[in-house]
Amino acid sequence: MRKGILITFEGGEGSGKSTQIKRLYDYLRGKGRAVFMTREPGGTAAGDAIRKILLDPKNKKISAVSETLLYMASRAQLIEEVILPESKKGKIVLCDRWLDATVAYQGLGGGVDVKWIESIGERVTRGVRPALSLYLDLPVKAGLARARRRRAADRMEKKSLAFHEKVRKGFLSIARREPGRFKRIGIKEADTISDVHEKIIRAVRHVI
Ligand code: TMP
Repeated sequence: MRKGILITFEGGEGSGKSTQIKRLYDYLRGKGRAVFMTREPGGTAAGDAIRKILLDPKNKKISAVSETLLYMASRAQLIEEVILPESKKGKIVLCDRWLDATVAYQGLGGGVDVKWIESIGERVTRGVRPALSLYLDLPVKAGLARARRRRAADRMEKKSLAFHEKVRKGFLSIARREPGRFKRIGIKEADTISDVHEKIIRAVRHVI
């Protein structure tokens, strides 16, 4: 059975992550590679429904533990229905977010026990491990301002600056703990889409 490669992306709000994944997808397709692009929460019918619940600003009372379980439910479905089958076809799977987001947002940002998150994560990810995870790191304030210019803030974007700063620290601690897999890509406000794309190409070159 052939086996694909999973590359995941993380980033603060407004970091340009979705644009960059699409750019990388087009780049790899242009090189004749079999690529599949997906995201979480979402990527399946059930996952998209869960995404709506998670991002709807009306759901003010969702606790960090409920959030954790909802993100995990979407992830479990995505792995079962999409990531495992696509990866068995030998594709390069690009996934917008991964378990690292639950560790950073709900764990280090929201105070949920990280060991508990990792133990559910182990069950949910079923042995699937990213070959590479890229963290697009734009200063938090600039990113939130960018996201807010784009459209009305969703439930996660509405959380405080202090929360988002904790999330950033969480991602940086994952980068220190797993330097081989989880790489920070520093982004300056003045960087163009092409500048960031070049940095991403340099980072993915050694895994594909
Ligand atoms: P997105 O902005 O990358 O589409 O992700 C949606 C929001 O959900 C974003 O604010 C990050 C947040 N999130 C978590 O809090 N925990 C998770 O496990 C995931 C996958 C996303």
